[in-house]
Amino acid sequence: MISAKMLKVLNSHLNEEFYSSYLYLSMAAYFEARNLKGLANWFRIQSSEEQLHGMKFFNFILQKGGKVTLSDIAAPKIEWKSIQEVFADTLKHEQKISGLINKLVDVAMIEKDYATNTFLQWFVTEQVEEEANVEEIIQKIEMIGDNKSGLYMLDNELGARVAAPAVV
Ligand code: FEO
Repeated sequence: MISAKMLKVLNSHLNEEFYSSYLYLSMAAYFEARNLKGLANWFRIQSSEEQLHGMKFFNFILQKGGKVTLSDIAAPKIEWKSIQEVFADTLKHEQKISGLINKLVDVAMIEKDYATNTFLQWFVTEQVEEEANVEEIIQKIEMIGDNKSGLYMLDNELGARVAAPAVV
């Protein structure tokens, strides 16, 4: 059993994870259009991971006997002024998601829903990693500045990212 309140916020968050996937796919397209294939690869993988996050919520709601309610996914931004702006938006977005996960944990605790609280702990940990990864890339971009060979090296580095095995 799952409370109506818990179900509502879990369904709402499912949409946020799919929106994240859409946003990162838009960023991948931005880099593909600029022939920065490594950066595009990083965002393609990021987009796939977000889809898996959405599926974790999808599966969990069903396991708890709840009704999955899919809603409209908002159109993401499609243009950025710079690489710096893309990653600043990425960090801002991940910080927002971390805040939303924390609010879900608040609801689970208020509802005394221990199973959902345990399910959410994976995301609490994941968000720490997500924010740290983006912050590290932002620091590298700051170091590179206008240096074209630095950008080439970063593109190569991010092009080597491989998708983690899908565990949903
Ligand atoms: Fe699924 Fe990057 O939060």
